[in-house]
Amino acid sequence: MMSTNFNEKIYVAGHSGMVGSALVRLLKAKGFTNIITRPHAQLDLLNQAAVVKFFEAEMPDQVYFAAAKVGGIYANNAYPAEFLYQNLMMEANVIHQSFRTNVKKLLFLGSSCIYPRLAMQPITEAALLTGKLESTNEAYAIAKIAGIKLCESYNRQYGDTHQIDYRSIMPTNLYGPGDNYDPQNSHVIPALIRRFHEAKISNSSKVTIWGTGTPKREFLYVDDMAEACIFLMNLSKKIYERHVEPMQSHLNAGYGSDISIAELAAMVANIVGYHGEVIYDGEMPDGTPRKVMDSSKLHQAGWMAKVDLHSGLNLTYRNYLLSLCDA
Ligand SMILES: NC(=O)c1ccc[n+]([C@@H]2O[C@H](COP(=O)([O-])OP(=O)(O)OC[C@H]3O[C@@H](n4cnc5c(N)ncnc54)[C@H](OP(=O)(O)O)[C@@H]3O)[C@@H](O)[C@H]2O)c1
Repeated sequence: MMSTNFNEKIYVAGHSGMVGSALVRLLKAKGFTNIITRPHAQLDLLNQAAVVKFFEAEMPDQVYFAAAKVGGIYANNAYPAEFLYQNLMMEANVIHQSFRTNVKKLLFLGSSCIYPRLAMQPITEAALLTGKLESTNEAYAIAKIAGIKLCESYNRQYGDTHQIDYRSIMPTNLYGPGDNYDPQNSHVIPALIRRFHEAKISNSSKVTIWGTGTPKREFLYVDDMAEACIFLMNLSKKIYERHVEPMQSHLNAGYGSDISIAELAAMVANIVGYHGEVIYDGEMPDGTPRKVMDSSKLHQAGWMAKVDLHSGLNLTYRNYLLSLCDA
């Protein structure tokens, strides 16, 4: 790892979330000694005055920005105002206060939904702002694009004078320990794990899944994502700049291959041990037909995913069972 100072003060925003908690685990495991966090109840990132106070008091050296309002298709489609407002406000507050208090390095987590609905596959970083977004999560995507452009704009305006280096990483769909299993607000993998598990326990003969099962998606295990974040944060500026441009500074982080929802459902049902029928409700929205990212830039820079989907799903289901025991 290049130019790494293990004693720098690192603020992980969103440390209680799936990615934030993986980041804290991995930073500690790698020997970073000065990690700070704040529970949402103590620091609401929507509250500008509170964010100002926090940054002025703590003066972190680096920020991993993994806080966001996150949800699946249903929540994104039903609550667009909340997704747009909250994500824009958190980004404006955290990125601007980072700049004001002299944070030199910040890593913003975006999402693959920033790309146009019909982007060429696999999706390269250059596809950003080249076409219409998927309507079901347009509000969230617009906020994430604003986050990338905030980082870029601070770099462009203040990079040289203030030596700041604010980077953005675009994860594909993530899954793993700490995921959200809320029946109305979860992503596809936790939703499938929960539905199949509950169907197994209640001996249900069938499980109905939203959509046709044909859309293809890419999935990355959260520990691989945390590894990608720490890798990118510590990548030397010289190597980083070989892969980005001043107005296209984000890098994709994906697993590298995709799978249909129907194949995924079969894999999850097998891991959970559910043997009933799986029915697809084609009346419900499918979302983007195919989404796999081109992560070759991050690969060339030196990061690769390590956990294959089957192993990752096994680890995730084990963690889900443990969380049921704790509840
Ligand atoms: N999960 C995915 O598949 C996926 C895919 C692509 C990109 N991403 C991106 O990765 C990042 C992390 O996602 P995640 O899956 O880890 O999400 P998550 O589990 O929902 O975690 C979000 C975190 O943000 C915190 N948060 C939300 N609103 C806040 C507020 N107003 N003030 C303070 N903290 C607040 C949450 O705290 P509380 O829970 O206490 O509210 C939680 O710690 C996000 O930027 C997301 O867009 C995720």
